[in-house]
Amino acid sequence: MGKKLYIKTYGCQMNIYDSSRMADVLAPLGFEPTDRPDGADMVILNTCHIREKAEDKLFSDLGRLKPLKSARVDEGADMIVAVAGCVAQAEGAEIIRRAPYVDIVLGPQTYHRLPEMVARAARAAGPNRHILDTDFPAEAKFDFLPDAAAAPGVAAFLSVQEGCDKFCTFCVVPYTRGAEYSRPAASVLAEAKRLVAAGARELTLLGQNVNAYHGAAPDGGNWGLARLVQELADIPDLLRIRYTTSHPRDVDEALIRAHGEIDKLMPYLHLPVQSGSDRILAEMNRNHTAADYLRLIERFRSARPDLAFSSDFIVGFPGETDQDFQATLDLVKTVGYGSAFSFRYSPRPGTPAAAMGQQVEESVAHERLLALQDLIETQQRRFNGEMIGRVLPVLLEKPGRHPGQLIGRSPYLQGVHLTADPKLIGTIQPARILDASLNSLAGRLISDDQDVAA
Ligand code: SAH
Ligand code: SF4
Ligand code: F3S
Repeated sequence: MGKKLYIKTYGCQMNIYDSSRMADVLAPLGFEPTDRPDGADMVILNTCHIREKAEDKLFSDLGRLKPLKSARVDEGADMIVAVAGCVAQAEGAEIIRRAPYVDIVLGPQTYHRLPEMVARAARAAGPNRHILDTDFPAEAKFDFLPDAAAAPGVAAFLSVQEGCDKFCTFCVVPYTRGAEYSRPAASVLAEAKRLVAAGARELTLLGQNVNAYHGAAPDGGNWGLARLVQELADIPDLLRIRYTTSHPRDVDEALIRAHGEIDKLMPYLHLPVQSGSDRILAEMNRNHTAADYLRLIERFRSARPDLAFSSDFIVGFPGETDQDFQATLDLVKTVGYGSAFSFRYSPRPGTPAAAMGQQVEESVAHERLLALQDLIETQQRRFNGEMIGRVLPVLLEKPGRHPGQLIGRSPYLQGVHLTADPKLIGTIQPARILDASLNSLAGRLISDDQDVAA
């Protein structure tokens, strides 16, 4: 009988990708995914360290696992508990100290070794069972991952770049994910072809700094992201390509041009700016000004006029004044986003910003966050509202919550609800947009439109 594997994923898309690859490497050991932790033979919590809350959540989730594990042991069964991801990388042995019923702690760079760790844990008993592997190994994990992957779904993630050398002063990623690394182009293309053969029609290329991509090319030399996208666009059954997350400093002319030239590259770009104040941007070590960013947006828009943008913002960075915050609001108004994420600054241990003076009072940061979120929400409603009456190509992804309903995506990453035959899943269909809310659109297939007219 198959063993049950429960994985809970926090944080970014890269973690979502890593979780599915962990399931892949454990499948040959007989582990099958389950959606509940009780009764599972193995539980993996794939963690995120970017903000405080996720870390607290880890320990409260671990607290809830403890009795489930005891119940398994009382039944004479076992539950191997593993903590993976960025908190595992940062906290290491501390996790086992605080929660000794955790068996395995592994970092994002070592999950290809998971089968070996699981085998060791299953054999050992008592404190010997504790396994800690948070190395940055010399071998690249991508070379050790199995080819056969679980069915990817219509829209799949594909990791092409990892780590970061930018050292923004607020951010833990350079410490938890290590130095920037680009996966060789041949390995990316091979995985893309596998995913598409297994049914994927849209690929989102992932990297903490995806547009810093400079992977070894099959013909020698290196390919940048634009070239990689161009090669991927030649895969016939691949219909859509996206990439995330980009850094403004790594945008080059080729990437801007790609948005004008490659139809499969979707007109929606996540380009985080964090702040609109040059002084704060300098303190953050972002290495660009607000004007540099606005110029980039203009260049993208001249290459592809309908390109929509999203961004990340941090409010309440140390030393942020009302004036600095106003500059952020001004920048948001100038760009006009399709959507955006905004976060209250949270000091991360070991980062330079955590040691800066002038930490912003919580109530002030909270008020600024509400004001920014209000503005972003207004822009998002406007952007979605502008779709009403238009015909958009919708990639149909999966059944919706109501009978007969499917959920698809617009080119601008908006979810679209409509009624359609499930046989159409995996195809792009033109749909008229009838209604819009903050987070999604409602539409009707054009083919149904004609039925109504007839
Ligand atoms: N590499 C990407 C994103 C990394 S993390 C980039 O450079 O934009 C995702 C987002 O989390 C960041 O863009 C930032 O807005 C937010 N973030 C990172 N560290 C944070 C911190 N200490 N406090 C609050 N938000 C943070
Ligand atoms: Fe963090 Fe900055 Fe690197 Fe993004 S670019 S991952 S925010 S250090
Ligand atoms: Fe979080 Fe690590 Fe991703 S800190 S955002 S899981 S890279």
